[in-house]
Amino acid sequence: MSVDTTPELVVRSPETNAQGYHEFSLGEFRFKRDEFFAYINWPTGAHIMSVDAFLRALQRDVAWDFFYGIVNFDGVFGTMNHYGTVDIFAGRYNDAYRKAELDYYENVETPLIRETFKSILGDWTNEGFDPFASPHETGPAFGIKHGANTAAITRRRVAARRMVNVPGDEELRTDDSGHRVNRMFAYVPQDEPDIEVEPGFESEVAAFSLFAYLSRSQVTWNPSVVSVCKDSLFCPTTEEYILPIIHGNDRVEWFVQLSDEITWEVEDRDAGGVRARVTMKAGDVCAMPADIRHQGYSPKRSMLLVWENGSADLPDLIASGQTPTYPIEF
Ligand code: PHB
Ligand code: FE
Repeated sequence: MSVDTTPELVVRSPETNAQGYHEFSLGEFRFKRDEFFAYINWPTGAHIMSVDAFLRALQRDVAWDFFYGIVNFDGVFGTMNHYGTVDIFAGRYNDAYRKAELDYYENVETPLIRETFKSILGDWTNEGFDPFASPHETGPAFGIKHGANTAAITRRRVAARRMVNVPGDEELRTDDSGHRVNRMFAYVPQDEPDIEVEPGFESEVAAFSLFAYLSRSQVTWNPSVVSVCKDSLFCPTTEEYILPIIHGNDRVEWFVQLSDEITWEVEDRDAGGVRARVTMKAGDVCAMPADIRHQGYSPKRSMLLVWENGSADLPDLIASGQTPTYPIEF
């Protein structure tokens, strides 16, 4: 357990409701679920979401520790990361809520929202439901409370310090480690590169097949760091169905479509107006600007490389106009 966890601060109803679930509070926000829906209340409004969509978004917000910038669960509710504190908001990036003055947010310490969201995820995830899995590869989220799925919701996040397959770093995926080739990637060659290392450089020279590695991913829409060079992070992921969040950027990110096809709906980050629809086919490269939000649709399991700049300076540089919202001037 990390040092800054404060589970005792989580506000949870002592009793469960008629469907067997606890209710939670975070500041003035209230959370409850029943068989099908998650309900969110705050002083100026109320919101309802399908509980499977809510848990898929919540799982990512927890696993990514609030990610880069904004994690919109949908067009109304979400979080904005300030890297130490987090805004939890309703209607804040929604023109209609803003105009009606019904938008609301609170800024909370990261450990408190982290522990609260982990508790909700743990209590509301039933046995058989895996929020990270493709809808085709999981049981349903619905129904009265039955069991739990702790193994699925506490998966260790892959985060290479240098690169996968460097000695002492993230290991290759194999059948023996429980990473079988996914049904949709049965055609992907599984051979690994031959590495001939000059004696003395054994810990410095490494290589691996990224396609074979990704073909064995158990999860969808979960970028994980496979190589690091200073602030340059390669975060590939396998995608099927719909990205369960709408990501509002606080920096530019590059996408390289490694296989198949994804369509991205791109909207204005703050107001939600439609900006573009981008269909990326295998081999296509694009940059998502820092002032948009986006959600991907992948009709067949596909491989996507997300290239992130992890610099902690970027959000302020971009917000203050010192760095442009787009990556390149032609
Ligand atoms: C993104 O917001 O850029 C993103 C998030 C998850 C993915 C892919 C892209 O799986
Ligand atoms: Fe993004």
